[in-house]
Amino acid sequence: MCGIVGYIGNQDAKEILLKGLEKLEYRGYDSAGIAVKNEEAVHVFKEKGRIANLRNIVDETVAATMGIGHTRWATHGIPSKENSHPHQSTSGRFTLVHNGVIENYEQLKREYLSDVEFASDTDTEVVVQLIEKFVTEENLEVLEAFRKTLTLLQGSYAIAFLDESGSDTLYVAKNKSPLLVGLGDDFNVIASDAMAMLQVTDEYVEIMDKEIVLVTKDQVTIENLQGEPVKRPSYKAELDASDIEKGTYPFYMLKEIDEQPLVIRKIIQTYQDDQGQLTINPDIITTVNDADRIYIIAAGTSYHAGLVGKQLIETIAEIPVEVHIASEFGYNMPLLSKKPLFVFISQSGETADSRAVLVHVKELGYPTLTLTNVPGSTLSREADYTLLLHAGPEIAVASTKAYTAQIAVMSILAKVVADHKQKEVPFDLVQELGLVANAMEVLCDSKEILEIMSKEYFTDTPNAFFIGRGIDYYVCLEGSLKLKEISYIQAEGFAGGELKHGTIALIEDGTPIIAVATQASVNLSIRGNVKEVVSRGANPCIISMKGLDMDEDSFVIPEVHELLTPLVSVVPLQLLAYYAAIQRGCDVDKPRNLAKSVTVE
Ligand code: M6R
Repeated sequence: MCGIVGYIGNQDAKEILLKGLEKLEYRGYDSAGIAVKNEEAVHVFKEKGRIANLRNIVDETVAATMGIGHTRWATHGIPSKENSHPHQSTSGRFTLVHNGVIENYEQLKREYLSDVEFASDTDTEVVVQLIEKFVTEENLEVLEAFRKTLTLLQGSYAIAFLDESGSDTLYVAKNKSPLLVGLGDDFNVIASDAMAMLQVTDEYVEIMDKEIVLVTKDQVTIENLQGEPVKRPSYKAELDASDIEKGTYPFYMLKEIDEQPLVIRKIIQTYQDDQGQLTINPDIITTVNDADRIYIIAAGTSYHAGLVGKQLIETIAEIPVEVHIASEFGYNMPLLSKKPLFVFISQSGETADSRAVLVHVKELGYPTLTLTNVPGSTLSREADYTLLLHAGPEIAVASTKAYTAQIAVMSILAKVVADHKQKEVPFDLVQELGLVANAMEVLCDSKEILEIMSKEYFTDTPNAFFIGRGIDYYVCLEGSLKLKEISYIQAEGFAGGELKHGTIALIEDGTPIIAVATQASVNLSIRGNVKEVVSRGANPCIISMKGLDMDEDSFVIPEVHELLTPLVSVVPLQLLAYYAAIQRGCDVDKPRNLAKSVTVE
């Protein structure tokens, strides 16, 4: 979490940094700050809360053409002005921003900095204090002090700092946390995500872990920790500036929900060859086919997509699949099969919990594949293979189009592997995904009715339950996560048959029960479960699929192939959650306590 930007050139640094931070707000929004350097001094502005608060306190009269900025998701130290970045060394000479967690910060404080009075509760401050200590007490050059500091740090970091009394240089380094250098004419920038600096450049250079980068207005010098120079070509960020704007939408989440039909069509197109056949990298197919079991590792919404993926891969490709929560798998690894394949599903490609598993299983020598929306992301770079989601930037913290893209790509993976095994797939996936896109469009056009339903079920309720069976249960887990994360209504998803084993005790008069019924084989059983809760006072909302619908149903989705229903049934759940959050006056795109990329374990 947290986002970093930096600029060095000839223009007003303040505005470029602030605009960049606005694009990175999805990474955290507990506080924000910038530091700009001119001939007089380094000027630091920081404030609790959103970038808008920071804008209010930045002194417009300060002119400077270099600086660094930070938007924070608090880990060490409460969200406050004191704990906001940038942090300064005691003398004020060094000013630093950091994304990540310095795991050994307490030990470093004890061993090296016991005489230093700290101004914040953050782990970050040790870094800037160490640099100052090594410069003043050991007479090291700034670069050497930085290098020495980096050799002491354990954990994750993307760091940038300024030296008030030194040359006009941004000192930069990273380990496990993302950071890019952007190149321009007469200026250079740094950013946690290319999106932030697309305003000035689309040409970027990747920085690898444990490299040090010196960025001046007209030069970028990369070296490894041993001081050896590193040369790396730049690349063009394939991001369209309009993809990262909200346009006429009030919130990114609504825009991203509406983009889903297009995303599905784009995925079909991208994964088709000239003959219209679905195709993926043959090495991936061989790797999947060689595996005796697939282990899907993911978190949050991506985990929910993984559960649906299991059903698809097992049914279509006939390969056994286990789905694991990344943060659990790392500490509680099951007995593995003889030839496992690890598949990491991650919108951002930066989730630290998933990365920890990836690093571990790579050490064990197992093959790895990442499904991600972000080319060049850490999980993509570090896995053996990548399948891209092609969903376009997802900016709302609540994931919507990435979830459906993940499922669509997994269905294609399953189908291509089945074809390779010459296993007959009794339906035309391209055609069925086309029908899914059409159905999604119908649902996106049903906003008014879903807004009314959302009012009926979620106004004033403290809690809500989502029930389904089989694949519908997995969608219920996702529907309940959407509702709780953006509206703060306590919501849980349950397997329909499981409620009566305990949770039914929570049902009271008027408790909303959202039941999803898209599977013929369990249509009657889930309706039986609804009856059980209705007899105890629940307020039922049955979302069924055409062909299985009954008079009592509240909303009917268009008919699609039964294996692909999650792609469609999730849309009304996303919209119900969206309107619940709107009714409650919540900040839909930036729910409290959350951040889009969870880059800490
Ligand atoms: O980037 P990832 O897909 O790895 O992120 C995983 C979760 O943090 C993410 O899905 C989270 O649960 C979303 N906020 C859900 O909407």
